[in-house]
Amino acid sequence: MSAQIIDGNAIAKSLRQEIAQEVEQWSAQGRRLPGLAVLLVGNDPASEVYVRGKRRDCDEVGFHSIVQHLSANVTQQDLEARIASLNSDPTIDGILVQTPLPAHIDEARIIDSISPEKDVDGFHAYNIGLLALRRPAMRSCTPKGVMLLLEHVGCTFKGQDAAIIGASNHVGRPMGLELLLAGATVTMAHKFTQDIQSKVKHADIVISAVGRPDLVPAQWIKPGAVVIDVGITRGPNNKLLGDVQFEAVKQVASWITPVPGGVGPMTRIALLQNTLQAAKATMGLS
Ligand code: GUN
Repeated sequence: MSAQIIDGNAIAKSLRQEIAQEVEQWSAQGRRLPGLAVLLVGNDPASEVYVRGKRRDCDEVGFHSIVQHLSANVTQQDLEARIASLNSDPTIDGILVQTPLPAHIDEARIIDSISPEKDVDGFHAYNIGLLALRRPAMRSCTPKGVMLLLEHVGCTFKGQDAAIIGASNHVGRPMGLELLLAGATVTMAHKFTQDIQSKVKHADIVISAVGRPDLVPAQWIKPGAVVIDVGITRGPNNKLLGDVQFEAVKQVASWITPVPGGVGPMTRIALLQNTLQAAKATMGLS
């Protein structure tokens, strides 16, 4: 068996066109454009690349976007004051603070200070709490993007076994809540899990979000499983590497995402969808 490759770039392209059409109709009706503000702190090269990509996506679909590029020495107080100002800015629907942040910044407090209605990353405790209570509002972007991919390949979720490797706040945990809400039976493996293979081997859906190249070998995968690789690590020559041993796992899985070109473009789509959703809510259109 050789798995079919899930082309995140192609799926994202068609969803971007849908968003662009909707925005075009809006502006034809004289409405203001959805607005995204990105706060970028310091000069992490990978973060700068991500933020440029988000800006480009906004331009492509016709959103208003601003980027505030701040010094690595910015204070907690200054950053929180900027967020407070964006919280009350009527031209801005979504606020995204690019992570990682410098060590002297308390990231949890920064996320807490974003208005939950403008939390287009879906990181705020209020939005994670609503997802846990089966009332999703602003959904975390990477898990939402993964759900879009799984729906695209026809996953039914109900009664399926899903295994998630990695239990981070931004990906693993909300991913578990998404799959649970969709009706899957969810197993979460993390750094204290013993014998990960035995937990993953029975799963119909496997999602790896660790950031360790080649972590997931073919022996861990049930024949016919859908395998989603969220891991992104920069290897030698700046090459992007996933968690999954792609060539070997491709021989066992039914569907598999590549790195790059799998989950990454869908995370960006989820950000655009969330910003549009926030704008609709503000305008009383949802
Ligand atoms: N850093 C890497 N990916 C992301 C993301 O999706 N959102 C934020 N805020 N920071 C990131």
